[in-house]
Amino acid sequence: MKTDPPASEPSPAPSTTSEGRPRFLVTAGPTWEPVDEVRYLGNRSSGRMGVEIARAAALSGHPTTLLLGPGTNEPAGSVTSAIGIQRFQSAADLDTLLRDCWPAHDILVMAAAVADHRPVRHPDMPRKLRRADRAAAIELEPVPDLLAGLAEVPHPGTRIGFALEPGDELEASARRKLAAKRLHGIVGNPLETMESDRIDGRLFLPDGTERRPAAGSCPKPAFAKWLVESIAPLHRRRAP
Ligand code: CTP
Repeated sequence: MKTDPPASEPSPAPSTTSEGRPRFLVTAGPTWEPVDEVRYLGNRSSGRMGVEIARAAALSGHPTTLLLGPGTNEPAGSVTSAIGIQRFQSAADLDTLLRDCWPAHDILVMAAAVADHRPVRHPDMPRKLRRADRAAAIELEPVPDLLAGLAEVPHPGTRIGFALEPGDELEASARRKLAAKRLHGIVGNPLETMESDRIDGRLFLPDGTERRPAAGSCPKPAFAKWLVESIAPLHRRRAP
């Protein structure tokens, strides 16, 4: 028979607000990596999925911060005022914001599409490349893996990544990233999610199991609500 614990037994002390609601830190949108002061290398992320996750977390009463990339729309509706929004442009900006913000949050949902490579900028480069400069090639350097870097930071929080993958490689690739980035969960979603109003997402967990909404493919706002409702209990179970 299941009984309530005796009153003297210490209750779990997850890292949460006084209302017991874990604080969400959500990233969304692309990064823009400068080529010069006029141009950038970017990607096609609209930021919609991450924005919907921040909305869903705030609507469920979780204190929520949204780190939002360039060229994206802020969450719509009155819930916006309950979300702390900070803007970033490059992966380096996002890295700084993440390191500042993460200590005051409990759950990170990394939906941002962060660059893997960025143009090398030498101090003697012109502020604007000219047609006559004959810049036939842009030299690239790797961008550090921000999510993997946060695994090195002592913090009891729950880190959830995203993996946008070709359908036939989805599970294997998402699980590889789950392990390599030492995450507590990763949402695998097919490439078709980009620029779509719907998502066919699956949440892969380190114990080898996966979860997905009962409806399967669903509108992004519905998936966001399901994800927030799935992750918050995971965090509560993990928290010391
Ligand atoms: N990510 C990150 N820093 C990067 C690149 C990605 O933190 N420089 C995060 C993304 O925000 C996402 C997760 O890592 O939550 C997976 O991103 P993805 O681009 O799918 O994976 P990569 O590690 O870049 O691997 P690959 O390019 O081989 O697919």
